[in-house]
Amino acid sequence: MEYSNNYPNRNRSRKKKRKEDYSMYLMYGVLGFLIIVLIVVLLVALKKPKAKITVAVDEQQHTLDRSLEEKLGLRLPNGDPEDINTETETDNLEKIDQSTLKDTGSISSLKGLTEKGFVLEIKDGITYVDGLLIVNKTFALPESFVPSDATADLTGVSYSLDNFDKTTYDAFEKMKAEAAKEGIELKLGSGYRSYSCQVDLWKEYARQDSEAAADTYSARGGHSEHQSGLCFDLSPVSDSFTNTPAGRWVNDNCYKFGLCIRFPKGKEDITGYKYESWHCRYVGEELAAKLYNNGDWISLEEYFGLESKYNS
Ligand code: DAL
Ligand code: ZN
Repeated sequence: MEYSNNYPNRNRSRKKKRKEDYSMYLMYGVLGFLIIVLIVVLLVALKKPKAKITVAVDEQQHTLDRSLEEKLGLRLPNGDPEDINTETETDNLEKIDQSTLKDTGSISSLKGLTEKGFVLEIKDGITYVDGLLIVNKTFALPESFVPSDATADLTGVSYSLDNFDKTTYDAFEKMKAEAAKEGIELKLGSGYRSYSCQVDLWKEYARQDSEAAADTYSARGGHSEHQSGLCFDLSPVSDSFTNTPAGRWVNDNCYKFGLCIRFPKGKEDITGYKYESWHCRYVGEELAAKLYNNGDWISLEEYFGLESKYNS
């Protein structure tokens, strides 16, 4: 009887025990789930891309994330990256295969990235990289292109330099004045040259020397930086300039005036031209200092990741 009387109680306590077990399992389950969620949240937070950073390069705002910035070898600005702009200009832009570009002076619109991730844009046949006008063997100017920031005051200049970019000419004047303080005289050999002038010049060199030889030191029509008005040659326009006091001074100081040695020594395969110690291009002080590279000049092609080859 006792037995039979005890059965219901025992069943109740078993049920109660089972219920307690279920509650415990449920609690452990919820706890485990919460721990897993916490771990996942932590992992995602740790893996989150680092803050985007705006890098000022050559007066243009470049927005790059840290890893891209490292890849490009650019220096970060000082300051806390988290506080800096999180927008990016390079999103959705693809790398341009520069070896396929032909006759860029006729391209009305194209936008993409260079080998080093800079924005390359062709607008109405004019190529800009990071906002800087670029002319070389790959990137031509339209036949009709004439500089817009013309014209410098050329009083006293014996040959026509019409359409010489004013900022570039002013940079030359400042450099000339500084050099004079050290007893060095700088003279212009050439400035702006029109499309047709360049065509004639190259043809004459090709006639005298062969086309292949001319291509090593003279640009074909549309491919000369002289048509941009943004460069000039110092006199004498010849290899003999390199080891004169003026040649050495210009090599060491032109960057202070926003000018670069456009075709540096030893970079012939990259720029497409032999070393020209006399050819200075205006790029602005910030970029010029980077290209100067503590005396070991680098070319615009290397800095931006550009080709300089005739593709047609
Ligand atoms: N001498 C340079 C390459 C030019 O002709 O533009
Ligand atoms: Zn030149």
